[in-house]
Amino acid sequence: MMMMANTYLQVLYLFICSLAIINTVSSTKENVTPYLDEAYHVSKTIVKNAVSKGAVCLDGSPPAYHFEPGFGDGAQTWLVQLSGGEWCRTVEACLERSKSEFGSSNLMNSWWFTGMFSKNQSGNPEFYNWNKVFIRYCDGGGFTGDVEYVDPATKLHFRGARIFKAVMDELLEKGLKTAKSALLSGSSAGGFPAMLYCDYFRTLLPNTPRVKCMNDAGYFINAKEPFRANFTELYTALVTLHGSAKALPKECTSKMSPELCFFPENMQQYVKTPLFIASSAYDKYQINNSIAVGINTCIGSSNCTATTNQTFLEFRSRFLNALPKPTNPKLKGVFIDSFNHHSQVQFWWSPFNITTINNLTLSKAFADWFYDRNYTYVIHEHELPISALGALAEKERKAKLKKSMRHLPKFH
Ligand SMILES: *[C@@H]1O[C@H](CO)[C@@H](O)[C@H](O)[C@H]1NC(C)=O
Ligand SMILES: *[C@@H]1O[C@H](CO)[C@@H](O)[C@H](O)[C@H]1NC(C)=O
Ligand SMILES: *[C@@H]1O[C@H](CO)[C@@H](O)[C@H](O)[C@H]1NC(C)=O
Ligand SMILES: *[C@@H]1O[C@H](CO)[C@@H](O)[C@H](O)[C@H]1NC(C)=O
Ligand SMILES: *[C@@H]1O[C@H](CO)[C@@H](O)[C@H](O)[C@H]1NC(C)=O
Ligand SMILES: *[C@@H]1O[C@H](CO)[C@@H](O)[C@H](O)[C@H]1NC(C)=O
Ligand SMILES: *[C@@H]1O[C@H](CO)[C@@H](O)[C@H](O)[C@H]1NC(C)=O
Ligand SMILES: *[C@@H]1O[C@H](CO)[C@@H](O)[C@H](O)[C@H]1NC(C)=O
Repeated sequence: MMMMANTYLQVLYLFICSLAIINTVSSTKENVTPYLDEAYHVSKTIVKNAVSKGAVCLDGSPPAYHFEPGFGDGAQTWLVQLSGGEWCRTVEACLERSKSEFGSSNLMNSWWFTGMFSKNQSGNPEFYNWNKVFIRYCDGGGFTGDVEYVDPATKLHFRGARIFKAVMDELLEKGLKTAKSALLSGSSAGGFPAMLYCDYFRTLLPNTPRVKCMNDAGYFINAKEPFRANFTELYTALVTLHGSAKALPKECTSKMSPELCFFPENMQQYVKTPLFIASSAYDKYQINNSIAVGINTCIGSSNCTATTNQTFLEFRSRFLNALPKPTNPKLKGVFIDSFNHHSQVQFWWSPFNITTINNLTLSKAFADWFYDRNYTYVIHEHELPISALGALAEKERKAKLKKSMRHLPKFH
């Protein structure tokens, strides 16, 4: 009971966060945070023919996405993003979820496009004019479910894998099939399916010269003893409820149980299409769920104990060990920082609001890797977690200082 409630609360928390963003944007100009200046509203598109394919959200409503067409030399370049928002692994939790925008397209509003989705050329020079698709996550099973049976009592549908395919069918017709370059990306719970479907996405685009994938903040490791192997418990229940096993690579499920194949570390080796992994070694969601609830709160106030710091070092070492080795960064690029944040492509991307590793930004590192200019495999040397909001405040302080310096009298 406790866990169900927890999961629901977490979903609610994400929901509230998205509401908070929307509220900020629609409030008066002075209250708008600078990185949201460039944010714009994109209404939802309901996927046609999805219901007839049985590709539906938890509540049986059709899936949806938000689409902004590309322009200029970006007109044939596509960003296809799978959104995140945890998982539901019990009937009760999924039922709760089906009454939210994470389980029903009837409850989805428009979405704010920002960060990598920004159309501001100076702030988002590499991606501003791409076609951009933000696929809403309404199945609760990380786009992996495929259960034919619908319990007449709950009317819940576990059909995430069908949703992914139905959306792809529609996007191909919308112009994706003539793309020159395409990226399948996903954040948080959307990160795993972006890896899982990477090779399938490649096969859908036989005439596209450049097809790559990215997992943003969804590289959750199997943090065993002394950490809490929560994700194993979670994935075991999830693959059972959603019937996810058949969506997972057979090369993996023939060697280990399906829940273990849900861990990117066990699955990444089977992805043949170039894949980029962006994450913090101290991802806010992961350390809260895998080390201890609230462990991240000391980071912002710089008063973590020696024991906590030791735990952090151990966790980071496990995290780095779970990554693909740097032997072929063209096929497996990585950008791992030490900032305590979660998910970057939307909210930690624009110049106002980006964290860097020795002045290298994720947007630059990723673009270089995507366009085959440099095969990034970068790991932040900073061993302990850094407060992302603290780093941002420091950046703002310096910027203000620089600005006020300009007004100082010059002594010639
Ligand atoms: C930067 O992003 C974080 C997380 O999304 C947000 O809380 C913060 O307000 C943003 N800061 C600025 C200056 O945009
Ligand atoms: C576009 O980005 C630049 C550089 O980051 C920034 O100065 C400018 O305010 C942004 N414009 C809008 C409309 O957000
Ligand atoms: C994670 O595991 C711990 C210990 O087994 C448990 O108390 C906690 O509720 C779990 N959290 C989630 C989110 O499942
Ligand atoms: C950490 O997890 C707990 C329980 O799941 C949740 O209530 C809390 O909001 C989370 N904190 C952060 C910073 O994510
Ligand atoms: C760390 O500092 C914060 C803010 O100053 C305070 O609320 C918290 O109690 C402190 N934690 C410890 C363990 O001292
Ligand atoms: C833990 O590490 C932080 C830096 O991340 C540091 O500020 C703090 O003093 C350390 N705590 C102890 C007890 O050494
Ligand atoms: C980062 O850039 C700043 C300003 O351009 C420079 O002062 C600093 O030395 C650079 N740091 C690194 C690690 O390259
Ligand atoms: C290419 O990436 C590597 C790290 O993977 C970095 O050390 C190097 O400076 C980069 N080169 C250029 C030209 O950006």
